[in-house]
Amino acid sequence: MKCRVCRGAAVIDVRRHNAYFCGEHFVRHCHRQVERAISDHKMFTTDDRLLVAVSGGKDSLALWEILLKLGYEADGLFIGLGIDGYSTDSAGYVERFVEKVATPAGATLLRVDLQSDFGYDVEQAAASTGRAPCSACGLSKRHLFNTAALDGGYDAVATGHNLDDEAAVLFGNTLRWQTDFMRRQRPVLPEGNGFPRKVKPMIRLSERESAAYCVVSGIDYQVDECPMSAGNSHIRYKEMLNMLEESSPGAKAEFYNGFLRNLTPILDAETSAMSDDAQAPAIGPCGRCGSPTDNEVCSFCRLLQRVAQPASNVGDSISG
Ligand code: AMP
Ligand code: FES
Ligand code: ZN
Ligand code: ZN
Repeated sequence: MKCRVCRGAAVIDVRRHNAYFCGEHFVRHCHRQVERAISDHKMFTTDDRLLVAVSGGKDSLALWEILLKLGYEADGLFIGLGIDGYSTDSAGYVERFVEKVATPAGATLLRVDLQSDFGYDVEQAAASTGRAPCSACGLSKRHLFNTAALDGGYDAVATGHNLDDEAAVLFGNTLRWQTDFMRRQRPVLPEGNGFPRKVKPMIRLSERESAAYCVVSGIDYQVDECPMSAGNSHIRYKEMLNMLEESSPGAKAEFYNGFLRNLTPILDAETSAMSDDAQAPAIGPCGRCGSPTDNEVCSFCRLLQRVAQPASNVGDSISG
């Protein structure tokens, strides 16, 4: 098969675009998709300082490399989650990337470690709060992304969520018609109320494209899935959507892009028609750490309290 652009030997097909690409033009295709996501959704400009949350996986490392190649000022943030074996392996991929790509481009890596900085790991957090590991992990990551971005004076936090991730989350939200979650499922969440801006510049690339991008660009990444995520519904939704994509190329993008095009304007109109109180709960500073919260103490501080307590006190839920 021949590259759509130069007619040279193709290395990958992108069925939803009905196109084959050689290595060089595939890289350009990926850069264009990221540029388009950034401009379509007005995510940021070259004047902004970005903090890329990097897990060591393909999407976030590809994102960091692409942003640096496109001329953005982007540092990285890695959070050590203390997941046996997996977290140290992931840190190794990030460190090698930093040495090979980020440092030569003038970017730096910030690091936070749950165990050494806060005295717990994901497994302990899950056990002492009664939450699923992914939920305790997600809560910790969200809080630490926010504080690292605000403390470092960054304009936005960028994560590697790709088309498959967003379509799977949307699928779950749609199955249960969780319109409040859909309202927040955006490629850009603006800054405000003490939260930094959050952006997802990889939403126009599939998981397969981001893996191929890393291979073609010589980026070595953590291939294994997090062992804690085995069997979770997000993975099942991805498998279902892949089956659909196999028989109808483009179905995944159509589903997610159709949501952005057709449903988000309706949800936005509905939100603006609500009273201020109904639109968003009152946000104030957490009594312990000062982070924005709709409670007296934020959920991260409540998690810290819980992990410091004996296991017999577990039971109350930590949400909000
Ligand atoms: P996940 O929730 O594991 O699918 O990850 C979604 C995104 O969150 C990744 O693409 C990264 O941008 C970010 N992320 C996940 N894990 C970490 C981590 N340990 N440290 C920093 N960022 C992370
Ligand atoms: Fe958080 Fe797996 S990465 S539980
Ligand atoms: Zn070509
Ligand atoms: Zn707090």
